[in-house]
Amino acid sequence: MAAMKLRAEVLGLPAYRFEAHDAAVKLDQNEAPEDLPDALRRTALERLERQAWNRYPDLHPRGLATRFGARHDWPADGVAVAGGSNVLIQAATIVAGIGRSVATVRPTFSVYALQARLLGATLVEVPLGPGFALPTDELVEVLQVGEGVAFVAAPMAPTGNAVAPADLERLAAAGGNRWLLVVDEAYGEFANVDHDTLARAYPQVVRLRTLSKAFGLAGARLGYALAHPEVAVELRKALLPFSVSALQAAVAEAVLEAPDVVAERVGRTVAERERLIRALAARRDVEVFPSVANFVLMRVQDAAATHRGLLERGVLVRRQDHLPGLAGCLRVSIGAPAENDAFLEAFDAVATATAHREELERA
Ligand SMILES: Cc1ncc(COP(=O)(O)O)c(C=O)c1O
Repeated sequence: MAAMKLRAEVLGLPAYRFEAHDAAVKLDQNEAPEDLPDALRRTALERLERQAWNRYPDLHPRGLATRFGARHDWPADGVAVAGGSNVLIQAATIVAGIGRSVATVRPTFSVYALQARLLGATLVEVPLGPGFALPTDELVEVLQVGEGVAFVAAPMAPTGNAVAPADLERLAAAGGNRWLLVVDEAYGEFANVDHDTLARAYPQVVRLRTLSKAFGLAGARLGYALAHPEVAVELRKALLPFSVSALQAAVAEAVLEAPDVVAERVGRTVAERERLIRALAARRDVEVFPSVANFVLMRVQDAAATHRGLLERGVLVRRQDHLPGLAGCLRVSIGAPAENDAFLEAFDAVATATAHREELERA
């Protein structure tokens, strides 16, 4: 067949980069390491059973919006709920980016740039500063002109560092009412900070939250935006009608009623993150970067060989060495204690095997 004449923006776009591997210890997608406790799973299943599956769900899930709003003391009409925060990145690009600009940093979560390209926005990517710092001065310069949407992951991804609220405030002030500033708090629970004060002071700020990380519901697909009600109305227009299923909503509602489960998981993950950072910092030939998220970025001598060696030993981490400024980098999600031990053990075994091979080559 002759090549279809589809939109050049789509034809020229690489697909989202993800390679699935089977591994006993899966530390590649920053998921929660364990599923919901049995009792909570049963509660969620009972809710699913009570749903009328033949009926459409709410046009926009009002019940969930009210609950998410209550979680943040935010008005329910300022909440937009979608099947993952990815979808809200797309919605923000639709309402503020198409035919205008999308500004972000590089490297960062790839969906910002992918959606900008797909939807035909002008993409401006500013390289991160030293130590993966937010390039605030350069971003301020970008936001002083034109109009569009700026995306900042806070904590940053895939680097894991925190973003100072004062820097985000400078961006919000520079962009005024011409730029929507999306602060993506996908990993916010693990950092124990959010950007609530900023969002209350600047109606152009939209906070994104996901249930895929701290809530342990990556499989259910849910995220939400906290925005000024006048902005939230426009975001909801960009979402497809009835796109959050009654099944998704029922599971999320059950978990929202068990905040202790989420808080305990976050506490365990943060303690394990600190243990893992200490353990890696004590090893030779590895540079581990500070993280306030549920993953750690590290630089090794040969990312491809380390990734392969870990996988051969049943441990899956994520390569990041294709990204600018991240040569040699791997990202490891914080797992359950036994998984983190398995990772460290496999990491040491790979290092020993590499040293042994190098010795033989020298001999
Ligand atoms: C920074 C960031 N934002 C958003 C997402 C997507 O989250 P969701 O599963 O809600 O689409 C991720 C997923 O890894 C992420 O790292």
